[in-house]
Amino acid sequence: MQAYLSVLRDRNTGVAEFRRNSDQLARRLAAETLVKLPTVRRESETPPGDAAVPAPPGDVMVVVILRAALALLGSFMEAIPGLPVGFIGIERDELTARPHSYYQKFPRVLPGRAILLDPMLATGGSAGLAVATLRQLGYAPESIYFTGVIAAQEGFRALSQLIPPSHITAAAIDPALDHQKCIVPGLGDYGDRYFGT
Ligand code: PRP
Repeated sequence: MQAYLSVLRDRNTGVAEFRRNSDQLARRLAAETLVKLPTVRRESETPPGDAAVPAPPGDVMVVVILRAALALLGSFMEAIPGLPVGFIGIERDELTARPHSYYQKFPRVLPGRAILLDPMLATGGSAGLAVATLRQLGYAPESIYFTGVIAAQEGFRALSQLIPPSHITAAAIDPALDHQKCIVPGLGDYGDRYFGT
């Protein structure tokens, strides 16, 4: 994961290389996240006998925090075909860095657990707003997970007040935010770099 992340951090990495390394990293993040879910077993027949083998996690959805988290979605759908997906549109104000929500869409039948996706956890404001939305839908903190690429210490601390810290998965924790509340050293704007904006 650190090798992929190093390429993502490099300011000279272009869109194609950024996407390729992001997609590889996202596969590993999906695996690291899904092992944290309670294990489900199903009966299976092996040549000499029966066995209870681990089944793909069920009763879970991922929730994409638009827009940058679209970059992580494919790896989760690849890991769990048929995975329900919810969407929350949240954007930070460029001057105040405060998040506002502009769109929501969730599966009609809500699964028992929700994994929030957002590659960047800076102040934690966007993730906090997304957690509040899930709480309104009836999710307890213990049913909520968060997966990202880089978390700033500030954002990690803030989100840890809202959901169990062990439910937070990230490839790196960076030390600081700059005066514009961007992660330092970070990698810039994930959405802009992944989508070539
Ligand atoms: C970025 C990022 C997170 C948020 C993190 O999104 O993808 O959603 O900022 O910052 P926070 O922890 O301080 O809230 P942005 O608002 O740039 O929207 P985008 O996904 O459309 O690029």
